[in-house]
Amino acid sequence: MQKPRAAVILAAGQGTRMKSATPKVLHKVGGKAMLDWAIDLAAALGCSRTAVVVGPHAPEVGAHVTGRLGAGAAAVQDRPLGTAHAARAAEAALAGFEGDVVVFFVDTPLIRRETLAAMFAQREAGAGVVMLAFEAADPTGYGRIATDEDGRFARNVEHKDASDAERAIALCNAGALVADKAVLFSLLTRVRDDNAQKEFYLTDVPGLARSSGFPVEIVTATEEEVLGVNSRVELAEAEAAFQQRRRIEAMLAGVTLIDPASVYFSHDTEIGQDAVIEPGVYFGPGVRVAAGARVRAWSHLEGCEIGPEASVGPFVRLRPGARLAARVKIGNFVEVKNATFGEGAQASHLTYVGDAEIGARANLGCGTITCNYDGFDKYKTVIGEDAFIGSDTALVAPVKVGARAYTGSGSVITKDVPDGALAVGRARQRDIEGWGDTFRAKKSAERAARGGKRREVE
Ligand code: UD1
Ligand code: MG
Repeated sequence: MQKPRAAVILAAGQGTRMKSATPKVLHKVGGKAMLDWAIDLAAALGCSRTAVVVGPHAPEVGAHVTGRLGAGAAAVQDRPLGTAHAARAAEAALAGFEGDVVVFFVDTPLIRRETLAAMFAQREAGAGVVMLAFEAADPTGYGRIATDEDGRFARNVEHKDASDAERAIALCNAGALVADKAVLFSLLTRVRDDNAQKEFYLTDVPGLARSSGFPVEIVTATEEEVLGVNSRVELAEAEAAFQQRRRIEAMLAGVTLIDPASVYFSHDTEIGQDAVIEPGVYFGPGVRVAAGARVRAWSHLEGCEIGPEASVGPFVRLRPGARLAARVKIGNFVEVKNATFGEGAQASHLTYVGDAEIGARANLGCGTITCNYDGFDKYKTVIGEDAFIGSDTALVAPVKVGARAYTGSGSVITKDVPDGALAVGRARQRDIEGWGDTFRAKKSAERAARGGKRREVE
């Protein structure tokens, strides 16, 4: 049976190498803050309690934690004395909890749930302490894990404390550790800072466990999975790794990506089977694309839903609250914000639709504009089923166009249009007979009088 689980997320580092006014842990990968990746990972593992260790230098990080996990979840480490010191700071936040605890770092946003779940499983199978390791292509800087002849854990050594022989070891500590809570916090009290950095190392815990007779097990991850973000360069590397992971997941789930490397996902992008995503598509947060839909090239989508068999793009911008039903067609240079399109409705070219409800099968002609904002408030446009909005219609909201109604091209619609009617809101055309010919004759005569020279440049 699964034991109760808790998580301790270490997030008290200063993140100075980010060179940012924003705390490192609030920088985003796949549109989600690293801190939220860590909190969501703990939840996905079934942790009933999560404590986040934060530094005193970034109160907004503590506020973010409290906002997500409630008061008491943020534990302040008053001084940065090392990872073991940070983990100890979480003890009060886990008061009353009994069971297994995972400790991990906030700056490794790509760790998979399956990997930490495997660590918990080892612990449930009898390990005293389970640590996460990886083989580094270049281990410089990482803590190394020395193993015995059987490949089992022997001891940890930080890079700065390591001998040349130890520095040749490629097996590195990834930072995550699982242990029974009581065992963990008792071992943490025994960690000393007699090392090169005068810090309390969390990596001393497995060695202390071993010498106290607790078996230590190692779970391994790929290097990509435990990539640590300390600078913008590594942030971009993490983003690239995340994007690649999502592209592969999408394709394996039955989505066609014509040029995968040019498609950008968010952490929560959902795309149904047999959807086709053309090159150069950017998915901001909160996008759902239904099965069989097509997103054509160079489109920017966020906070929107695209229905089955619908087609959007090329060059479309769907902003938050755009909800398109089945078989809707949105064409080039159309922007949609906070608006629903009923089944089969269309806006094929050069249109802005904001704060609107578009009925099923309605057709918005080229250059339709909902005038929804007066600088203070937003107003709604409602268009009935099967309505036909003539090209270059300005719909001055609040306004309704009835079902099956038409608007004449170039109309400015300021009043509701009844069902089935034609609304024409533009100056009536007037023809002045002969005006063109008279004008031409007069101008030609003036030119001849000046010497007949044509202007060289218009
Ligand atoms: C740590 C490990 C090292 C491992 C590497 C993997 C230790 C002693 N070393 O080294 O073995 O190979 O990660 O990336 O654990 N933090 C605090 N308070 C502190 C210090 C750190 O909260 O006083 C947090 C940081 O915010 C960060 C994490 O702990 O999220 C790791 O700290 P960092 O200083 O980056 O450790 P490394 O030197 O990278
Ligand atoms: Mg680090």
